[in-house]
Amino acid sequence: MTVAWPRSVRPPGAALAAALIGSALAILPPAAGEGPPGRRPMPAEAVDAQDVITPVPSNLGADPDRVALGRMLFSDTRLSRGGDRACITCHDIRSNGASAVARNLTADGTPVRRNTPTAFNAALSFRLGWAGDIPSLPDQAEIALTQPEFLGGSWPSILAVVRGDPALAGPFQAAYGREADRAAVIDAINSFERSLLTPDSRFDRWLRGDAYALTEAERAGYALFQGIGCAACHQGINVGGNLFEKVGIFVTIPNKTAEVLRVPSLRNVAVTAPYFDDGGVATLPEAVRLMARAQLGRELTPAQAASIVAFLGTLTGSYEGRPLTAPAAAPQP
Ligand code: HEC
Ligand code: HEC
Repeated sequence: MTVAWPRSVRPPGAALAAALIGSALAILPPAAGEGPPGRRPMPAEAVDAQDVITPVPSNLGADPDRVALGRMLFSDTRLSRGGDRACITCHDIRSNGASAVARNLTADGTPVRRNTPTAFNAALSFRLGWAGDIPSLPDQAEIALTQPEFLGGSWPSILAVVRGDPALAGPFQAAYGREADRAAVIDAINSFERSLLTPDSRFDRWLRGDAYALTEAERAGYALFQGIGCAACHQGINVGGNLFEKVGIFVTIPNKTAEVLRVPSLRNVAVTAPYFDDGGVATLPEAVRLMARAQLGRELTPAQAASIVAFLGTLTGSYEGRPLTAPAAAPQP
């Protein structure tokens, strides 16, 4: 569904600012033969049309039986090599779909390479992972299940667990019409992840026409977000997740793990601290000011940063009827 642009809050300079930003972007083409066509710096009208944010849907039509299976697998520690961890260990879907720590620990106690991004709304991003080098949710599931950094499981033992547990084997047979195999396990996790959506944020309610869903201060923050060019990169249904961009165009961002990253989604960003690919920034105002400096060559006043933070707070949606929250204090250092 297309949502009419709320013209009233769109400052006249926004398209121009976005176009100027556009000329500073380094944009990678997507992997050969894969996915949507690459984005290039584009004329102001096109930027104008493309940076529209659309609401998160409440479902993507995933099969409920397969979703239920994927939900069980998501928290099943038996799939991991040491039997001590599951997807939910790092992606806490009872809170924000991620973790409170900068970097989770692998089974051997060393930190994973990057901050854990939320699993919520990942289905709405065009590529996965901070670098955007993972093409799809099924590819991501294969990596998470088997690479030592994550669960480190092996297919023979994963399938032995699933086939040997009557609580899983029967439902797999019913949902797939065959014994659980690698493709079915991946598909069940993929189905569950496609159900990890957070509709009904106040911003989406406002997009859908509820004029009272945002305060004046939040609308002003959105106007600033548009006007100074944040939306040239953070745009579309996930307010990000649909472009590759150079990181640190004007000023270097410390400890970044690659020169070019996928622009991350800002959905639920108010509850997914710490920030950036290394989890190195603890607070949202700090992340916003660093972004303005590094990506736009601009110094925000504390009041301007607070204004944008107020807008970002309206992007927190709900899962199973409850607004996402920050996780309780970090279980891992
Ligand atoms: C030890 C912590 C850990 C575990 C366990 C883990 N993940 Fe992750 N997950 C991460 C990290 C870190 C990344 C980012 C990797 C990168 O960008 O290099 C990630 C990325 C993802 C993403 C991409 C999100 C996005 O927006 O790009 C999805 C989806 C995901 N994981 C799902 C899963 C599933 C499903 C499982 C279980 C089969 C799992 N993860 C297990 C830490 C973990
Ligand atoms: C040129 C593209 C670009 C522009 C413009 C831009 N960003 Fe970003 N943004 C990125 C990229 C790429 C990252 C990932 C950086 C990293 O992890 O090192 C990011 C990360 C973020 C994060 C951290 C998200 C997380 O989950 O850790 C926030 C918050 C953010 N941006 C907000 C903003 C705001 C607010 C503005 C405007 C002041 C802005 N960005 C402008 C590309 C951009």
